[in-house]
Amino acid sequence: MDIAEILEKNRLEREDIVRLLATQGAEMEQLFRKALDVKLSRLDNKVHLRGLIELSNVCRKSCLYCGVRRDNDKVERYMLTEDEVVECARLAHQLNYGSVAIQSGERNDPEFVAMITCLIHRIKEIDNGSLGITLSLGEQSEETYRQWFEAGAHRYLLRIESSDEELYYRIHPRNERHDFHRRLDCIDALLALGYQTGTGVMVGLPFQTLDILAGDLLFFREKDVAMVGMGPYISHPDTPLYQYADQIPAADDRMNLTLKMIAILRLMMPEINMVAATANQTIDPLGREKAIRAGANVIMPNLTPNEYREDYLIYPDKACVGDKPEECFSCLDIRMRAIGHEILYKEWGDSVAFTKKM
Ligand code: 5AD
Ligand code: FES
Repeated sequence: MDIAEILEKNRLEREDIVRLLATQGAEMEQLFRKALDVKLSRLDNKVHLRGLIELSNVCRKSCLYCGVRRDNDKVERYMLTEDEVVECARLAHQLNYGSVAIQSGERNDPEFVAMITCLIHRIKEIDNGSLGITLSLGEQSEETYRQWFEAGAHRYLLRIESSDEELYYRIHPRNERHDFHRRLDCIDALLALGYQTGTGVMVGLPFQTLDILAGDLLFFREKDVAMVGMGPYISHPDTPLYQYADQIPAADDRMNLTLKMIAILRLMMPEINMVAATANQTIDPLGREKAIRAGANVIMPNLTPNEYREDYLIYPDKACVGDKPEECFSCLDIRMRAIGHEILYKEWGDSVAFTKKM
């Protein structure tokens, strides 16, 4: 079938998706243009911001790709104080970011759970609850998810990393701390509790095929999630998965594959929120702009105090590690204008797909 014909279909099936993932050159550009058209007509040219606060790199997990995995003893561990986090949130508010995202290595001890609840309350006190709160704190019990939701968090990101069970276990150790089915259960629990739930995958992993990637997109549609984050996999020398660094696609190809995933998903789920992940910018200086032009509509500028950022290198050469939050602020505004997009300040920027469903 002709690409133009596939792009006009109402519902993409697995074979269409694989075909679109394999496009190159002019056909790939055609896909990107179509995704941009769909986004502009359904969501306009607006870009939402989430000020990212990297709370801690202490983690109970040992994901084989991740630079801050528990077994990497080269990392100096840190944890922001409650006051530091609240300061970051205040800064987000001053910069007119409508929302913050709190991300951390995974911990589920009672002290941690209580601290997060307290933080949510304190952030909600800033200007009468004007900041939206997204959490990205890994797998937790349903009780914990409920407690945080009731405290005022309304979005939660938990990437499935790969929806293919076999690949999942090639990139995670197979033990009680890393369980594919528990991860699925967590996503289901978040959806059931009423969070705007986000998930996602890394693109360009060793052993990942186009068919597996197509399965990931079908998984997002089947779960009817509100948000998706996808970024290129970047191999980290201090991780076990680094041994396959020579088996992953070249940076250009990983970038294009990520953009194709974003573009196809925009066709499949026109009104969800999709983030232009920082990893995009790490492998291509214009990576985030390209992701926005391929269909993404959210950016997460880093608000973590600069002295800690070096310790949150889940992958090497992360973009913006040396930049001050205020610099990111003006830089992003200029970058988005340059590609005909506009940042929406002071708004939570909820997923339109989610709002309509409610
Ligand atoms: N390359 C790219 N993305 C990574 N992540 C973790 N390690 C890497 C890596 N080496 C992503 C995971 C995780 C998110 C916070 O960062 O998808 O969910
Ligand atoms: Fe950080 Fe541009 S977003 S400097």
